[in-house]
Amino acid sequence: MRRLPRVALLPLPLTLALLVAAGAPEAPVSAPRSLVWGPGLRAGVVLPVRYFYLQAVNSQGQNLTRSPPGQTLFKVVIKSLSPKELVRIHVPKPLDRNDGTFLMRYRMYETASEGLKIEVLYGDEHVAQSPYILKGPVYHEYCECPEGDPQAWQKTLSCPTKEPQIAKDFASFPSINLQQMLNEVPKRFGDERGAIVHYTILNNRIYRRSLGKYTDFKMFSDEILLSLARKVLLPDLEFYINLGDWPLEHRQVNEIPGPLPIISWCGSLDSRDIILPTYDITHSTLEAMRGVTNDLLSIQGNTGPSWINKTEKAFFRGRDSREERLQLVQLSKENPELLDAGITGYFFFQEKEKELGKAKLTGFFDFFKYKYQVNVDGTVAAYRYPYLMLGDSLVLKQDSMYYEHFYMALTPWKHYVPIKRNLSDLLEKVKWAKENDGEARKIAKEGQLAARELLQPHRLFCYYYGVLQLPSNMHFRNTRSASPANRKYVMGWSSFLSQMITCPRASASGKDLPEKSFKSAPIDSPASASDRLKASLQTEAGLR
Ligand SMILES: *[C@@H]1O[C@H](CO)[C@@H](O)[C@H](O)[C@H]1NC(C)=O
Ligand SMILES: *[C@@H]1O[C@H](CO)[C@@H](O)[C@H](O)[C@H]1NC(C)=O
Ligand SMILES: *[C@@H]1O[C@H](CO)[C@@H](O)[C@H](O)[C@H]1NC(C)=O
Repeated sequence: MRRLPRVALLPLPLTLALLVAAGAPEAPVSAPRSLVWGPGLRAGVVLPVRYFYLQAVNSQGQNLTRSPPGQTLFKVVIKSLSPKELVRIHVPKPLDRNDGTFLMRYRMYETASEGLKIEVLYGDEHVAQSPYILKGPVYHEYCECPEGDPQAWQKTLSCPTKEPQIAKDFASFPSINLQQMLNEVPKRFGDERGAIVHYTILNNRIYRRSLGKYTDFKMFSDEILLSLARKVLLPDLEFYINLGDWPLEHRQVNEIPGPLPIISWCGSLDSRDIILPTYDITHSTLEAMRGVTNDLLSIQGNTGPSWINKTEKAFFRGRDSREERLQLVQLSKENPELLDAGITGYFFFQEKEKELGKAKLTGFFDFFKYKYQVNVDGTVAAYRYPYLMLGDSLVLKQDSMYYEHFYMALTPWKHYVPIKRNLSDLLEKVKWAKENDGEARKIAKEGQLAARELLQPHRLFCYYYGVLQLPSNMHFRNTRSASPANRKYVMGWSSFLSQMITCPRASASGKDLPEKSFKSAPIDSPASASDRLKASLQTEAGLR
C-alpha cells in the first residue's frame, strides 16, 4: 500500500509488473476471489460427515500453493435457516491441506427441515459466494429418509457413470446362477471356520444370517448397508459377504462349475471375488468425527511438515503380518540413513522379536514426518495404503497380487513408485528418490491428487450402490430374455424369495434357508422382519 502513490505515476505496463512482483511473496488472500465448492454445499448429499473444499486465491486471482502465513483466518459458521428450529451441528476448524486448499467438514445430528445457511468467512469477510443456502430438508446421517429414485440419488452425488473395478468384477458373472450360488456357497465356504454372511435386502430392509464362527466383522457390513438404506432405496437382493481377510473364489471363469459370486473387502489376481471398499475406510467414513480420528478426510489436514522439511528417509511401522515386513527391519538396521522400519507388534513370527526388537507405536499422522512411505502387504493388501496416498509423502508400493477397490485407477511411476515383491530394489528406489527430488515430489503430488479424487467419502457410497445395483440389473436382463424353462435356473438374485415357495430347493447342503433363520439387522425387530418377509413372499408369488 505504501507504494501506491509512486506506482500511480508509472506507465501502465510497468505498474502491472510491479503489482505482480509485490503481490507474489505477500500472497494476501482475497476472500471474494477464493473458491469454494463440494458436495457439502448440496442439501441432497446426505453423508455422515458433509464436506466441501476451499481454494485460497490472492488478490491477483492466483491460487495460493501453500498455507497463508500465520493462523488461518478461514472459518465456517452453519445455522438452521429457521430460527425456530434447533439443529445440532458439529463444525470443526477447517483442515489446512498445506497447499493453499482447505477441507471444511460438518456433522449434523438433526435434520434441518427448512434448510441450512453456511457462512464461509475469512476474518469477517464472506468468501466466494458465501453465505450458501441449502434448501431443506437437509437430512442428518441417521434419518431414515431414503430417496426413492436411485438414479436421482446417484446424480445428486455425482456418482461416476463407470467404475472400472466393478465392471471387471462382474465380467466374471455375465449371469448369476442363483440356485448354484445358494446351494454351493454354504457348502464350500460356510464351514465352522468360515466368515461368510448371507444378506437379503427386501423392501429396503436388511436381513442376514451368519455361516460360520468368525463373523464379528459383520458389524462393518451391517453399518454400511443400514447407512445406505437410510439414504436410497436399495434393490431387493441376495448375496454373500466374506468377512475374512482372504478372497475365496479361485475357480476360473471358463471352469465347470463356474465361479460363485462372493463379495469381499480385498481382491487378488488369482480370485474372482467381487470387491467392496475395505471395512477400514468404510467404518472410518461412517464414524468420522465420532471417535475415529484417522479417516479419509482428517488425514488430509495432518500430513506433517512441508516436503522440504520432511526427513529424507523411507518409513515403516506395522505388525509382523508378512515376512517381507521383517526383512524391512533388517534392511533398516543395515541402512539407517535410507530406511527407518520397525515392527510394533509380534504375532506371526514371535521368535523374531528378540532379534529384531519391537518399535514403539507411532501415531499415523507422524508417518508424514518422512518423505517416503513403504507400503508392504499385511496378510492381504495393507489397508493403510489409501491413507498413505492421501498424505504428501512419496509412496513406495510393494508389488502385490492383492488390491482394493481403487487401485485400478493408479499407475506406477505416475502416482507411486513400485518396488519388487522381495524388496530387492527398495534401497535403490529410495536412493533414486533422494537424487531426483523434483521427480519424486511430482509423483507424490500426482498420487495425492488422484487419491483425493478417488477416495472422497461420497464416492464410497456410490461404489457400494454400484455393486448392489448390478446384479439386480442382470436380473431384469436375464428374466426378460430367458425362456420360461430357463428362468428358474438362470435368474438374478432378487428372485430368490419367490423361488423359495414355488420351487423349494432340495436341501443338498442340509441347510435350508427357512425365513425364520434370517436374523434381522439391528433396526428391525425379529417379528416385523419375518412379517415383512412373509408379506413380500406373497407379493412376489402373486406377480408370477
Ligand atoms: C485454481 O484452483 C482451482 C481449484 O483447486 C482449480 O480448479 C483451478 O484450475 C486453479 N487455477 C489455476 C490457474 O491453476
Ligand atoms: C521448514 O522449517 C523451518 C524451521 O522450522 C521453517 O522456518 C520453514 O518455514 C519451514 N518451511 C516450510 C516450507 O514449511
Ligand atoms: C527378487 O525378485 C526378482 C524378480 O522380481 C528376482 O529377479 C530376484 O532374483 C529376487 N531377489 C532375491 C534376492 O531373491
